[in-house]
Formats: sequence, structure tokens, C-alpha cells
Amino acid sequence: MKYIAIVTGASSGIGREFAYAIDQSMNGIDEIWIVARRKDRLEELSAQLKHHARIVCGDLSSRNTVNRISQLLNADKYKIRFLVNAAGYGVLGDFEKGDRKEESGMCDLNVRALTEVTHVCLPHMGKNSRIINLASSAAFVPQPAFAVYAASKSYVLSFSRALNSELKDRQIYVTAVCPGPVKTEFFDVAEKHGTRTLSLKKFAMTTPQVVVKEALRDSYAKKEISVPTTVMKLFRVMCKIVPHRIIIALTSGLYK
Ligand SMILES: NC(=O)c1ccc[n+]([C@@H]2O[C@H](COP(=O)([O-])OP(=O)(O)OC[C@H]3O[C@@H](n4cnc5c(N)ncnc54)[C@H](OP(=O)(O)O)[C@@H]3O)[C@@H](O)[C@H]2O)c1
Repeated sequence: MKYIAIVTGASSGIGREFAYAIDQSMNGIDEIWIVARRKDRLEELSAQLKHHARIVCGDLSSRNTVNRISQLLNADKYKIRFLVNAAGYGVLGDFEKGDRKEESGMCDLNVRALTEVTHVCLPHMGKNSRIINLASSAAFVPQPAFAVYAASKSYVLSFSRALNSELKDRQIYVTAVCPGPVKTEFFDVAEKHGTRTLSLKKFAMTTPQVVVKEALRDSYAKKEISVPTTVMKLFRVMCKIVPHRIIIALTSGLYK
């Protein structure tokens, strides 16, 4: 039996930081599987890890990549101790003016791929294993000019909480991580059409290290939601008490 951790979106940002942190802190795993499209980045990461890394290079929006993960898992006796679903992207801009493929691509990757990867991994998970899903603080309230992304992350948050409850009896714990802005390549993609992120958001910016440290702590503590930084914790409370129509009215138009 081989004990493994799987990290999607491992070629950059938060996913890569999870791979480093799991590599450093986890005893009792034999391999870390790192998944993304950019092979050179995964090779670079693999060379830096002390655990053996298995590179799974592919586009997760395509079912072929998820099928490949499933086949690899079924080819030997694997037990997954940690699954981190970090692959994801968002593109800012008005929905109607946006690129149809890019918009549905967010649903394919952030929603469908995350769901399918989780589904193929679950039969290989047992007592005391963990799933960490990257949602976002965008999950807390609808976001004009980030409509599809925010909706996709609401799905991740809702799905993760329900799954955490379903899996309690099997002692598998699911944590949805809901950061605000994090300094990664995410914004190179999000702002590619020129729509700028709010300067207020940039003020709240944190690092992947902070997000991952708190996420792992919350996951070990069996928390279903991890919200790094005080600013975003306050934002979450605000989204619980202020009617969403008011927050939406206040934020709509700010990106133009
Ligand atoms: N940065 C933020 O402000 C922020 C805030 C809240 C939540 N999040 C969420 O955190 C997660 C990680 O984001 P990040 O900030 O680390 O962004 P990032 O640096 O852009 O990393 C995104 C990762 O996803 C992978 N990826 C993208 N498209 C893919 C595809 N079609 N198939 C397979 N892998 C793909 C990328 O690898 P390749 O390009 O090599 O495929 C990369 O490893 C995302 O789910 C994001 O929505 C980010």
C-alpha cells in the first residue's frame, strides 16, 4: 500500500505552496502527485520536493485528465491521505461582453473538474484523510464583473460543506478555503482583458504561505471553512449580516 497526497494546480501559487507544505510537514506519505498543465513548472517543483513526486500533466477541464488520474489510482494500491483541489481561475469583466469559452471554462475547471477529481479520489480515501477545496471569499456574495467566478466558488463552498457532513462517519474531513486576494499568478489571468481589481482588494492582499498555513491548521482541526486574514473574516461576517442586495449595489460598477 502506498500513501499519497494529491495537489491540483500545483504548478503555481496556492497549489504549489500546498505541495511544499505537505512535503515539509507530512510524515507517512510515500508520494505527492502534482497536477497541472505546465510540465516544466511541475518538473521544477518535483526537483524541490523531498518526497517522490508523480507528475500528472494535463488539462483538468478535459475529462481525459480526470480519467487518467482515476486509472493511475486503480493501477496500484493507493491510499490518499490528502487531496487538495487548487486548480482554478477567474476572469474579470461583464458577463455579456466576456468570452463564452472562458466563462464556461471557469465552470468546467472550478466546478466540474473539482467535483470529478473528488469523486474518483474518494474510494481511495479512508479514516483521518483530508480534502481541501479552494473556494474563495467571492463565494460569500454575488460579485458583479466576476459573476461566473463568484458563482463557481459558491458551488465549491456549498459542495464542500455538504460533503464534509456526508463523510463525517468515514472520518474524512473536508475544508473549503476562502481567501480574499492572494499574491499569485491568478491576477495575470483575472485581469487579462484590462478590467482592474479594486484597489480595496489589493489592500487586503495576502500571500500563499499565509493561506496554506491557516488552511492546514483548520483542516487538522476538522473545520469545514478556513478564512485566512482578519480583513476577510470581517468581510465574511459583513456578508452574513448586511443584505446582499446592498453589497451588490455598492460594488456594482466599481470595476468599470
Ligand atoms: N489568488 C487569489 O486571489 C485567490 C483568491 C481566492 C481563491 N483563489 C483560488 O485558489 C486557487 C489557486 O489559485 P492561485 O491563486 O494559486 O492561482 P494561480 O497561481 O494562477 O494557480 C492556478 C493553478 O491552476 C492550474 N490550472 C489552471 N487551469 C488549469 C487547467 N485547465 N487544468 C489544470 N490545471 C489548471 C494552473 O496550472 P497550469 O497553468 O500549469 O495548468 C496553476 O497551477 C484557485 O482555485 C483560485 O480560484 C485564489
